[in-house]
Amino acid sequence: MNLIVSNHPDETTAAGRDLGARLVPGTVVALAGDLGAGKTHFVRGLVAGWGGTEAATSPTFTLLHEYATPRGPVFHLDLYRAKTAAEVWDATHDELSEAAGLVVIEWADRFPELVPPNACRVSLTATGQGRREITIEQ
Ligand SMILES: Nc1ncnc2c1ncn2[C@@H]1O[C@H](COP(=O)(O)OP(=O)(O)O)[C@@H](O)[C@H]1O
Ligand SMILES: [Mg+2]
Repeated sequence: MNLIVSNHPDETTAAGRDLGARLVPGTVVALAGDLGAGKTHFVRGLVAGWGGTEAATSPTFTLLHEYATPRGPVFHLDLYRAKTAAEVWDATHDELSEAAGLVVIEWADRFPELVPPNACRVSLTATGQGRREITIEQ
């Protein structure tokens, strides 16, 4: 378990970039944290660290965004508006089982049954104005 204190959105993005650079293909990253905790900032860094050039946005209204990168695809899921695990699984099981790429799930804690046991778990918590605590379990 790794604890990082972030005092600026850019520091949260940088923490994501550091992790993204260390991940191997096939990894699922499960992100937990309330609205505004910084999950999307973290994912932006993660995609960049993994080697992507496209800027990650929030897929809140689409369930799934895919970023093509030279290291393989990054699948970015946001389960905020998802209603059931079955609905998510039906729409994304090809991506969730993709061994060549990286899967990043925002609001993963809403459907723990979708998170593989070997996932990398990241939790973001607002601890003050501009301040976030990020824990990473790999
Ligand atoms: N240290 C910090 N890290 C990340 N975001 C921060 C931080 N301090 C303030 N913020 C603000 O919190 C919000 C985080 O947004 P976002 O990354 O979209 O969160 P989420 O995806 O968890 O809803 C942004 O408005 C950002 O400017
Ligand atoms: Mg978000």
